[in-house]
Amino acid sequence: MEIQGKRIVITGATSGIGAETLKLVQKYTGTTILAIGRKIEQIPENENVIAYKCDVSKQDEVDKMVAFALEKMGGIDIFIANAGFGYYEKIKKADWQHMENIYQTNVFSPIYSYQKMLELNPQNPFSFIITASAVSFFAMPYYTLYSSTKHALQGFLDGIQYEKPTHAHIGMIYPVATKTGFFENSVITSKIKEPWPTQTADVVAKAIVKGILKEKRMIMPSMIFRFAYVIGRIFPSIVRWNLRLQGVEPR
Ligand SMILES: NC(=O)c1ccc[n+]([C@@H]2O[C@H](COP(=O)([O-])OP(=O)(O)OC[C@H]3O[C@@H](n4cnc5c(N)ncnc54)[C@H](OP(=O)(O)O)[C@@H]3O)[C@@H](O)[C@H]2O)c1
Repeated sequence: MEIQGKRIVITGATSGIGAETLKLVQKYTGTTILAIGRKIEQIPENENVIAYKCDVSKQDEVDKMVAFALEKMGGIDIFIANAGFGYYEKIKKADWQHMENIYQTNVFSPIYSYQKMLELNPQNPFSFIITASAVSFFAMPYYTLYSSTKHALQGFLDGIQYEKPTHAHIGMIYPVATKTGFFENSVITSKIKEPWPTQTADVVAKAIVKGILKEKRMIMPSMIFRFAYVIGRIFPSIVRWNLRLQGVEPR
Protein backbone atom coordinates (compact mmCIF):
# COMPACT_ATOMS: atom_id res chain seq x y z
CA MET A 1 0.00 0.00 0.00
CA GLU A 2 1.19 3.50 -0.76
CA ILE A 3 1.98 5.57 2.36
CA GLN A 4 1.60 8.99 0.81
CA GLY A 5 -1.63 10.71 1.86
CA LYS A 6 -2.60 8.00 4.33
CA ARG A 7 -4.14 8.27 7.82
CA ILE A 8 -1.87 6.29 10.11
CA VAL A 9 -1.90 5.09 13.73
CA ILE A 10 1.34 3.98 15.39
CA THR A 11 1.22 2.53 18.90
CA GLY A 12 4.39 2.55 20.97
CA ALA A 13 5.47 5.71 19.13
CA THR A 14 7.13 7.25 22.19
CA SER A 15 10.38 5.29 21.91
CA GLY A 16 12.41 2.65 20.10
CA ILE A 17 11.01 1.00 16.98
CA GLY A 18 7.76 3.00 17.04
CA ALA A 19 9.58 6.34 17.36
CA GLU A 20 11.86 5.46 14.41
CA THR A 21 8.88 4.35 12.32
CA LEU A 22 7.14 7.64 13.10
CA LYS A 23 10.20 9.55 11.86
CA LEU A 24 10.06 7.70 8.54
CA VAL A 25 6.34 7.81 7.79
CA GLN A 26 5.92 11.48 8.67
CA LYS A 27 8.24 12.29 5.73
CA TYR A 28 5.64 11.03 3.24
CA THR A 29 3.57 13.90 1.90
CA GLY A 30 -0.03 14.17 2.93
CA THR A 31 0.15 11.72 5.84
CA THR A 32 -1.60 12.35 9.13
CA ILE A 33 -0.30 10.26 11.99
CA LEU A 34 -1.78 9.54 15.37
CA ALA A 35 1.24 8.72 17.55
CA ILE A 36 0.24 6.68 20.60
CA GLY A 37 1.87 6.02 23.94
CA ARG A 38 1.55 6.82 27.62
CA LYS A 39 4.58 9.16 27.77
CA ILE A 40 3.52 11.34 24.85
CA GLU A 41 5.72 14.23 26.02
CA GLN A 42 8.51 12.19 24.35
CA ILE A 43 6.93 12.57 20.89
CA PRO A 44 8.58 15.41 18.92
CA GLU A 45 6.18 18.01 17.55
CA ASN A 46 5.46 17.86 13.84
CA GLU A 47 2.71 19.41 11.76
CA ASN A 48 1.33 16.09 10.54
CA VAL A 49 1.65 14.25 13.88
CA ILE A 50 -0.99 14.18 16.58
CA ALA A 51 0.29 12.79 19.88
CA TYR A 52 -2.40 10.91 21.78
CA LYS A 53 -2.08 9.46 25.26
CA CYS A 54 -3.50 5.96 25.51
CA ASP A 55 -2.85 2.84 27.53
CA VAL A 56 -3.37 0.26 24.81
CA SER A 57 -3.81 -2.56 27.32
CA LYS A 58 -7.29 -1.22 28.16
CA GLN A 59 -10.25 -1.81 25.86
CA ASP A 60 -12.03 1.46 26.72
CA GLU A 61 -8.86 3.46 26.01
CA VAL A 62 -8.41 1.76 22.62
CA ASP A 63 -12.09 2.47 21.82
CA LYS A 64 -11.59 6.14 22.73
CA MET A 65 -8.39 6.31 20.68
CA VAL A 66 -10.14 4.92 17.58
CA ALA A 67 -13.06 7.36 18.08
CA PHE A 68 -10.51 10.19 18.36
CA ALA A 69 -8.81 9.02 15.12
CA LEU A 70 -12.17 9.10 13.33
CA GLU A 71 -12.92 12.57 14.64
CA LYS A 72 -9.49 14.03 13.76
CA MET A 73 -8.56 12.09 10.62
CA GLY A 74 -11.89 10.76 9.34
CA GLY A 75 -10.60 7.17 9.27
CA ILE A 76 -7.52 4.95 9.54
CA ASP A 77 -5.76 3.44 6.50
CA ILE A 78 -2.63 2.06 8.17
CA PHE A 79 -2.44 0.75 11.74
CA ILE A 80 0.96 -0.18 13.18
CA ALA A 81 0.36 -2.16 16.39
CA ASN A 82 3.83 -1.92 17.80
CA ALA A 83 3.44 -1.29 21.57
CA GLY A 84 4.68 -4.11 23.74
CA PHE A 85 6.97 -5.06 26.57
CA GLY A 86 8.72 -8.11 27.97
CA TYR A 87 9.21 -10.01 31.19
CA TYR A 88 12.63 -11.36 32.04
CA GLU A 89 12.18 -13.79 34.89
CA LYS A 90 12.20 -17.35 36.06
CA ILE A 91 8.64 -18.63 36.22
CA LYS A 92 7.91 -19.67 39.79
CA LYS A 93 4.70 -18.75 41.55
CA ALA A 94 1.13 -18.69 40.22
CA ASP A 95 0.20 -15.12 39.31
CA TRP A 96 -2.86 -14.57 37.10
CA GLN A 97 -2.57 -10.77 37.09
CA HIS A 98 1.06 -10.89 35.96
CA MET A 99 0.07 -12.96 32.91
CA GLU A 100 -2.98 -10.82 32.21
CA ASN A 101 -0.85 -7.64 32.15
CA ILE A 102 1.45 -8.82 29.39
CA TYR A 103 -1.27 -10.55 27.36
CA GLN A 104 -3.48 -7.45 27.42
CA THR A 105 -0.74 -5.27 25.93
CA ASN A 106 1.06 -7.71 23.65
CA VAL A 107 -1.82 -9.90 22.41
CA PHE A 108 -5.33 -8.61 23.15
CA SER A 109 -4.56 -5.06 22.09
CA PRO A 110 -3.18 -5.79 18.58
CA ILE A 111 -5.86 -8.40 17.85
CA TYR A 112 -8.64 -6.11 19.15
CA SER A 113 -7.23 -3.25 17.06
CA TYR A 114 -7.34 -5.45 13.97
CA GLN A 115 -11.01 -6.18 14.73
CA LYS A 116 -11.67 -2.44 15.04
CA MET A 117 -9.96 -1.86 11.68
CA LEU A 118 -12.22 -4.46 10.07
CA GLU A 119 -15.30 -2.71 11.48
CA LEU A 120 -14.04 0.69 10.33
CA ASN A 121 -13.09 -0.48 6.85
CA PRO A 122 -15.70 -2.87 5.43
CA GLN A 123 -14.53 -1.93 1.91
CA ASN A 124 -11.74 0.63 2.19
CA PRO A 125 -8.29 -0.98 1.64
CA PHE A 126 -6.16 -0.96 4.79
CA SER A 127 -2.84 -2.20 6.07
CA PHE A 128 -2.36 -3.65 9.54
CA ILE A 129 1.15 -4.28 10.88
CA ILE A 130 1.98 -6.05 14.15
CA THR A 131 5.41 -5.98 15.78
CA ALA A 132 5.98 -9.58 16.80
CA SER A 133 9.51 -10.88 17.43
CA ALA A 134 12.10 -13.49 16.55
CA VAL A 135 10.80 -15.21 19.71
CA SER A 136 7.50 -15.77 17.85
CA PHE A 137 9.35 -18.80 16.45
CA PHE A 138 12.16 -19.49 18.91
CA ALA A 139 11.15 -18.99 22.54
CA MET A 140 13.96 -17.76 24.77
CA PRO A 141 14.67 -18.99 28.28
CA TYR A 142 13.56 -16.53 30.97
CA TYR A 143 11.56 -14.62 28.36
CA THR A 144 9.10 -17.49 28.47
CA LEU A 145 5.86 -15.57 29.06
CA TYR A 146 6.95 -12.85 26.65
CA SER A 147 7.79 -15.47 24.02
CA SER A 148 4.36 -17.04 24.50
CA THR A 149 2.66 -13.70 23.73
CA LYS A 150 4.59 -13.39 20.48
CA HIS A 151 3.81 -17.04 19.61
CA ALA A 152 0.12 -16.20 20.12
CA LEU A 153 0.42 -13.40 17.56
CA GLN A 154 1.96 -15.83 15.08
CA GLY A 155 -1.01 -18.17 15.55
CA PHE A 156 -3.30 -15.24 14.85
CA LEU A 157 -1.44 -14.36 11.65
CA ASP A 158 -1.41 -17.99 10.49
CA GLY A 159 -5.20 -18.18 10.75
CA ILE A 160 -6.23 -14.69 9.70
CA GLN A 161 -4.33 -14.79 6.42
CA TYR A 162 -6.94 -17.24 5.10
CA GLU A 163 -10.03 -15.42 6.34
CA LYS A 164 -9.12 -11.76 5.97
CA PRO A 165 -10.90 -9.80 3.26
CA THR A 166 -8.85 -9.18 0.09
CA HIS A 167 -8.81 -5.43 0.70
CA ALA A 168 -6.94 -5.95 4.00
CA HIS A 169 -3.17 -6.34 4.19
CA ILE A 170 -1.86 -7.83 7.43
CA GLY A 171 1.87 -8.06 8.04
CA MET A 172 3.96 -9.18 10.97
CA ILE A 173 7.47 -7.98 11.77
CA TYR A 174 10.04 -10.16 13.55
CA PRO A 175 12.88 -8.07 15.00
CA VAL A 176 15.82 -9.74 16.74
CA ALA A 177 17.26 -8.02 19.85
CA THR A 178 16.95 -4.33 19.01
CA LYS A 179 18.79 -1.50 20.71
CA THR A 180 15.86 0.34 22.27
CA GLY A 181 14.47 0.95 25.75
CA PHE A 182 13.00 -2.55 25.61
CA PHE A 183 15.56 -4.22 27.85
CA GLU A 184 15.40 -1.54 30.57
CA ASN A 185 11.61 -1.44 30.31
CA SER A 186 11.37 -5.21 30.51
CA VAL A 187 13.82 -6.05 33.25
CA ILE A 188 12.18 -7.10 36.45
CA THR A 189 15.30 -8.63 37.91
CA SER A 190 18.68 -7.00 38.21
CA LYS A 191 20.82 -8.98 35.78
CA ILE A 192 20.19 -9.35 32.07
CA LYS A 193 22.23 -10.50 29.12
CA GLU A 194 21.24 -8.94 25.84
CA PRO A 195 20.54 -11.69 23.33
CA TRP A 196 22.45 -12.05 20.07
CA PRO A 197 22.21 -11.02 17.22
CA THR A 198 21.30 -7.36 17.64
CA GLN A 199 20.13 -4.59 15.32
CA THR A 200 19.13 -0.95 15.56
CA ALA A 201 15.60 0.44 15.64
CA ASP A 202 16.02 2.39 12.38
CA VAL A 203 16.73 -0.87 10.51
CA VAL A 204 13.49 -2.33 11.89
CA ALA A 205 11.56 0.85 11.04
CA LYS A 206 12.82 0.77 7.44
CA ALA A 207 11.68 -2.85 7.18
CA ILE A 208 8.22 -1.88 8.48
CA VAL A 209 7.91 0.82 5.81
CA LYS A 210 9.05 -1.59 3.10
CA GLY A 211 6.61 -4.20 4.40
CA ILE A 212 3.72 -1.75 4.07
CA LEU A 213 4.75 -0.60 0.59
CA LYS A 214 5.18 -4.17 -0.68
CA GLU A 215 2.28 -5.58 1.37
CA LYS A 216 4.48 -8.30 2.84
CA ARG A 217 3.03 -10.84 5.27
CA MET A 218 6.23 -11.77 7.10
CA ILE A 219 8.90 -9.12 7.57
CA MET A 220 12.31 -10.20 8.92
CA PRO A 221 14.62 -7.20 9.23
CA SER A 222 17.73 -9.22 10.21
CA MET A 223 19.54 -11.20 7.54
CA ILE A 224 21.08 -13.44 10.22
CA PHE A 225 17.61 -14.20 11.51
CA ARG A 226 16.30 -14.99 8.03
CA PHE A 227 19.08 -17.56 7.76
CA ALA A 228 18.47 -18.86 11.32
CA TYR A 229 14.75 -19.18 10.60
CA VAL A 230 15.40 -21.52 7.67
CA ILE A 231 18.13 -23.50 9.46
CA GLY A 232 16.02 -23.67 12.63
CA ARG A 233 13.12 -25.21 10.72
CA ILE A 234 15.38 -27.92 9.28
CA PHE A 235 17.69 -28.45 12.30
CA PRO A 236 15.81 -27.30 15.43
CA SER A 237 18.53 -28.71 17.71
CA ILE A 238 21.02 -26.04 16.48
CA VAL A 239 18.64 -23.31 17.62
CA ARG A 240 18.01 -25.03 20.96
CA TRP A 241 21.76 -25.24 21.56
CA ASN A 242 22.20 -21.51 20.80
CA LEU A 243 19.29 -20.55 23.06
CA ARG A 244 20.66 -22.65 25.93
CA LEU A 245 24.00 -20.82 25.59
CA GLN A 246 22.21 -17.45 25.64
CA GLY A 247 20.10 -18.12 28.70
CA VAL A 248 21.27 -16.25 31.77
CA GLU A 249 19.24 -17.07 34.82
CA PRO A 250 17.81 -13.91 36.39
CA ARG A 251 18.81 -13.22 39.98
N1 LIG B 1 13.83 -4.31 21.40
C1 LIG B 1 13.82 -5.60 21.09
O1 LIG B 1 14.81 -6.34 21.29
C2 LIG B 1 12.60 -6.21 20.45
C3 LIG B 1 12.76 -7.41 19.74
C4 LIG B 1 11.63 -7.98 19.17
C5 LIG B 1 10.40 -7.37 19.26
N2 LIG B 1 10.28 -6.20 19.96
C6 LIG B 1 8.95 -5.60 20.05
O2 LIG B 1 9.01 -4.31 19.49
C7 LIG B 1 7.95 -3.52 20.03
C8 LIG B 1 8.49 -2.13 20.39
O3 LIG B 1 9.46 -2.29 21.41
P1 LIG B 1 10.81 -1.44 21.46
O4 LIG B 1 11.92 -2.37 21.26
O5 LIG B 1 10.72 -0.25 20.61
O6 LIG B 1 10.83 -1.07 23.02
P2 LIG B 1 10.58 0.31 23.79
O7 LIG B 1 11.57 1.30 23.38
O8 LIG B 1 10.49 -0.09 25.23
O9 LIG B 1 9.16 0.77 23.26
C9 LIG B 1 7.96 0.19 23.70
C10 LIG B 1 6.83 1.09 23.30
O10 LIG B 1 5.60 0.46 23.67
C11 LIG B 1 4.80 1.39 24.37
N3 LIG B 1 3.92 0.73 25.31
C12 LIG B 1 4.21 -0.31 26.14
N4 LIG B 1 3.12 -0.63 26.89
C13 LIG B 1 2.15 0.24 26.51
C14 LIG B 1 0.79 0.44 26.92
N5 LIG B 1 0.22 -0.33 27.87
N6 LIG B 1 0.07 1.43 26.33
C15 LIG B 1 0.63 2.22 25.38
N7 LIG B 1 1.90 2.08 24.96
C16 LIG B 1 2.64 1.10 25.52
C17 LIG B 1 5.79 2.33 25.06
O11 LIG B 1 5.19 3.59 25.26
P3 LIG B 1 4.89 4.29 26.68
O12 LIG B 1 5.84 3.73 27.68
O13 LIG B 1 5.01 5.74 26.40
O14 LIG B 1 3.47 3.91 26.95
C18 LIG B 1 6.89 2.43 24.01
O15 LIG B 1 6.59 3.46 23.09
C19 LIG B 1 7.38 -4.32 21.19
O16 LIG B 1 6.18 -4.93 20.77
C20 LIG B 1 8.43 -5.37 21.45
O17 LIG B 1 7.88 -6.55 22.00
C21 LIG B 1 11.35 -5.60 20.54
